[in-house]
Amino acid sequence: MKVTIEKLDNFGRGITHINNKICFVDNALPGEVVEIEITKEKSKLIEAKTISITHPSKDRIEVDCPYYNVCGGCSLRHLRYDKENEFKERKVQELLKHIGKLDIKVNKIISGPENNYRNKVTFHKSKNMIGYYQKGTRNIISIDNCLLLDNVINDNIKNINSDSYEIIIRSSNDGNSLLINDIDSIITNIGDKKYYLSKDSFFQVNKYLTKDLYDLVRKSINKPYKTCLDLYCGTGSIGIYISDLVDNVVGIDNNKSNIEDAENNIKLNSINNIKFICDNVEDKIDSFNNIDLIIVDPPRSGLDNKTKEYLLDINPERIIYISCDPATLARDLKELKTNYNILEVTPVNMFPRTYHCESITVLERK
Ligand SMILES: C[S@@+](CC[C@H](N)C(=O)[O-])C[C@H]1O[C@@H](n2cnc3c(N)ncnc32)[C@H](O)[C@@H]1O
Repeated sequence: MKVTIEKLDNFGRGITHINNKICFVDNALPGEVVEIEITKEKSKLIEAKTISITHPSKDRIEVDCPYYNVCGGCSLRHLRYDKENEFKERKVQELLKHIGKLDIKVNKIISGPENNYRNKVTFHKSKNMIGYYQKGTRNIISIDNCLLLDNVINDNIKNINSDSYEIIIRSSNDGNSLLINDIDSIITNIGDKKYYLSKDSFFQVNKYLTKDLYDLVRKSINKPYKTCLDLYCGTGSIGIYISDLVDNVVGIDNNKSNIEDAENNIKLNSINNIKFICDNVEDKIDSFNNIDLIIVDPPRSGLDNKTKEYLLDINPERIIYISCDPATLARDLKELKTNYNILEVTPVNMFPRTYHCESITVLERK
């Protein structure tokens, strides 16, 4: 069946309509006429894959990866990178409007190199094969070079000698050291700050853009604040990066490995105005008052209801919200905007060639 693609959905799939049902088409771009095969049909929606392209879009480019559509890691490799950036900027804008009921013009997206940006990978192993799971299955496909990964990681895939079924590799942002599972830990850096990182800890994966993201956080701290809560603080990376701009920081994260690394990181950077708490944000946030600045950087699920209620109760002068899912960001802003003006929203393309988009929002008490 031939269809014409109308637009992209939030996951980078083409959208068309068949018999009044919305149809999502993998690997298809707006304006294209494509031959599709239906893979799933439900009462209100259809899913399909592209079999051939009759009229390609001028924004389509040749795919440069043999694993594309096999491993499922990338979703926009067939789209020009500048158009990917436009797509993400528009997606944040539209979600804020439709879910958040917010009429605000988002800033221009910040972007960096489209390939070789990831400083972390999880590979799977079976017999003598190392690679990724094939999309939607547990079958392993052998990988000897992934375009998303830092070249230091790619260069070492052939040297991996591990008995474990899951292999985590991380590289330091300067490319000088490598961590493979439990052998060594590494010290990485963002700007002039150093961070000790162990295998299971969270760290921003884009080696090029994390400094830009954190510099934006710094820029959003418009005056000296007394106490800053760094919620979902990971290894303390943001709190440490901005510690000279405030009197005190309290970081909260529920992952033990993160907090152990965070404690080491304050020593590594000779910082003495930060305290860390290893607990759930939602269980600890009600013990704070007199906080004038709060930074939140939650997982994709966004802020839970209890945390949002307490944020409004604590009523800080400024909130800086770093988000890796614009849909949950928009949902949360819809509630926070009752007491806060949204000053600006800046998308940051931390995950090129995938549909994911990071952003940073600055809120000020009304
Ligand atoms: C997106 S990461 C942010 C880390 C850090 N801000 C950074 O820039 O590296 C989200 C963090 O939230 C933590 N987390 C998830 N759910 C949590 C919860 N309910 N309470 C506290 N921390 C949580 C995770 O351990 C993870 O470190």
